[in-house]
Amino acid sequence: MTVVAIQDQVEAAVKAALTRALPSELAGSDPVVRRSDRADFQANGTLAVAKKAGRPPRAIADEVVGHLDTEVGITAEVSGPGFLNITVPGNVVWSAVAARLADTRLGVATPRAGERVVVDYSAPNVAKEMHVGHLRSSVIGDALVRILGHLGADVTRQNHIGDWGTQFGMLIQYLDEHPEVSWKGQGAETMSALDALYKDARVAFDADPAFADRSRSRVVALQAGDDATVAVWRDLVAESEKAFDVIYSRLGVLLDDGDFDGESRYNDALPGIVEGLLAAGVASESDGAIVTFTDGVTNPDGDPVPLIVRKKDGGFGYAATDLATMRLRVDEYKADRILYVVDARQALHFKMVFDVARRVGWLPETVHAQHVPFGTVLGTDGRPFKTRSGKTVRLADLLDDAEGAVRAVLQAREHNFTGAELDAVVHAAGTAAIKYADLSNTRTKDYVFDVDQMVATTGNTGVYLQYAHARVRSILRRAGEQTEAATAVGGRLDTSLPLHPAERTLALTLDGFDAILHDVADTLEPHRLCGYLYDLASAFTKFYDACPVIKADDPSVRANRLALSDLTGRTLAAGLGLLGIEAPERM
Ligand code: ARG
Repeated sequence: MTVVAIQDQVEAAVKAALTRALPSELAGSDPVVRRSDRADFQANGTLAVAKKAGRPPRAIADEVVGHLDTEVGITAEVSGPGFLNITVPGNVVWSAVAARLADTRLGVATPRAGERVVVDYSAPNVAKEMHVGHLRSSVIGDALVRILGHLGADVTRQNHIGDWGTQFGMLIQYLDEHPEVSWKGQGAETMSALDALYKDARVAFDADPAFADRSRSRVVALQAGDDATVAVWRDLVAESEKAFDVIYSRLGVLLDDGDFDGESRYNDALPGIVEGLLAAGVASESDGAIVTFTDGVTNPDGDPVPLIVRKKDGGFGYAATDLATMRLRVDEYKADRILYVVDARQALHFKMVFDVARRVGWLPETVHAQHVPFGTVLGTDGRPFKTRSGKTVRLADLLDDAEGAVRAVLQAREHNFTGAELDAVVHAAGTAAIKYADLSNTRTKDYVFDVDQMVATTGNTGVYLQYAHARVRSILRRAGEQTEAATAVGGRLDTSLPLHPAERTLALTLDGFDAILHDVADTLEPHRLCGYLYDLASAFTKFYDACPVIKADDPSVRANRLALSDLTGRTLAAGLGLLGIEAPERM
């Protein structure tokens, strides 16, 4: 069943009325309908269109009002220089609530059906601790995957892990020479053990030229497919992947084993990439290396910055691999849209990769490749987030901290959870705190990692929204409605009842759910959905303060208010779910 949003109904009605007031060449002009504080909606497209028609805006607006009277009861009033303030009749509002409740998708359409999207996200590096940048990529990428998928897109997740490179020569050589070093079978601690190994190997490499030479020979052995060397490399990759999976499931992101698409997968394609670029005249040799340039990309001195595809020593760079992945995504996956959820500091890299791919013909105009950059996570001191001793902060530790803080908050209140229930809620809220803090900040901006602020039960936090949802569910439980299907609740709704202003605001906010999802899919900015859910929770609070629900005297009023509450709860849960955040029944 398709649900037409009230805003869309209004837009269509005003557009039709406007068309009748305009000369034919301006028929179908956009009336620009938006939510408004003064009425339900405002249309201010009349101004631009009047200018085009060479008529006074108020005259056009007056005519629209006249035509609207004959439409579905939507009333309008001319205001200011010629805007329209629009009010929707109560029955339209109540019917929209009933229609959304009757639809398991809550009225959200699938406008992206048929679109194929590849999302490249998370992408930590083997044998290295994941850092907060990988957290951001994982959390933002996952929300985009869920939202695009929910809107009907066919989404492929790709976790382009760093599983190849000269550093493996050093690691494998070090392990060979230090059989006493234990890193395997460390479970969740594997990454820390590997990270320590990496650092020790790096120290040896820098201090001991003979070891550095042996490490370089080891790289050659790895590239040549030497059995013993490859076996250790495989172990390093496999154990790292296991450790990544532990983090992903703890974090509640969709990424799993099937999504690993490491750099090493593209090794065999790299010589062909260089050949292709040379043959097309897109790359050239410079000082022994193979490089390409992008118009307008220069360093501060004004010199063109090269994108290095093959290094002087014959090794391939990060750019070559990205070009190879691009070809796979276009040719095999038939992507219409490719998203790279990667740190803003890699903007230049992607700009150049996309430019080169376009010029050589590997990225056709019909395919949209887009870097989805995000800002840096800062500590409370305003500097990039590190531990006191300057080390990378472990994701597992962040989650532990957030869960500890949530547990303290919950234990300070009265609750009747069993131990296991409490653990589950602590986990849900701790993860929500971290993920929501990341998602609710404007994606491209830096943000400060502040656990106390993240677990706050008031303000725009994940925990607040979980509370708001649990509160709605508790109201419905008390009303004995929780077992009732949404359709039944909606079906009892009396659309002829007058609307309290707080009911109206809440219902119109609920009406905007699908529009906000489409907006996030266009802009790739999950914080817009966060802001929407926060507004929704606030509108519910105002409604609940102003309008008795369970204690409403009139049974029809009670039924309508329960329907509004039910739809609010379902919308909050669905919205949080699309952000990858759980919505527990009780908090
Ligand atoms: N592994 C890289 C890093 O940690 C991120 C890779 C991002 N994806 C890509 N296709 N380049 O910085």
